[in-house]
Amino acid sequence: MIANCDRHAREACLSAEEKPPVRTIDIGISESDRRAIADGLSRVLADSYTLYLKTHNYHWNVKGPMFNTLHLMFEQQYNELALAVDQVAERIRALGHPAPGSYASYAKLTAIPEEEGVPPAEDMIANLLAGHETVARTTREVFPGDDQGGNEPTADLLTQRMEVHEKTAWMLRSMFGD
Ligand SMILES: [Fe+2]
Repeated sequence: MIANCDRHAREACLSAEEKPPVRTIDIGISESDRRAIADGLSRVLADSYTLYLKTHNYHWNVKGPMFNTLHLMFEQQYNELALAVDQVAERIRALGHPAPGSYASYAKLTAIPEEEGVPPAEDMIANLLAGHETVARTTREVFPGDDQGGNEPTADLLTQRMEVHEKTAWMLRSMFGD
């Protein structure tokens, strides 16, 4: 450190040799913690993307007397999920890691089974309910611990995601009169 420099201007005070390379991430979270959090976020991303596709599938293929209600409700839900996957993926990037972006990688990472067919409308509601609860569980499982300090933005994002999934699960469950 150069002598007599302002303690508030740390970067300016570092000599050329002391400055970290511009391309090195230096946000106060260790590389191993950033890796662990990015891995957890990748699981949330895979669950969310798989649930997004399933919800869109059901929006297209739902039939029966509840068509209009379900077609519109599924549209609201997949639009919300489309915005969410972008936020989760970009948080992974901010932590310095690549965001998974292929169906093959999502199939490996997700805990949600893909939809192969066209189930009856009631089964669609039940499957989406199970999907939202699965994302809530994954999110809770990968939530950054106190030992991974300084990860407030990740905790904030995951808190919001849990709230959405738990609320959506409640709404879907209510359709059964439970
Ligand atoms: Fe549509």
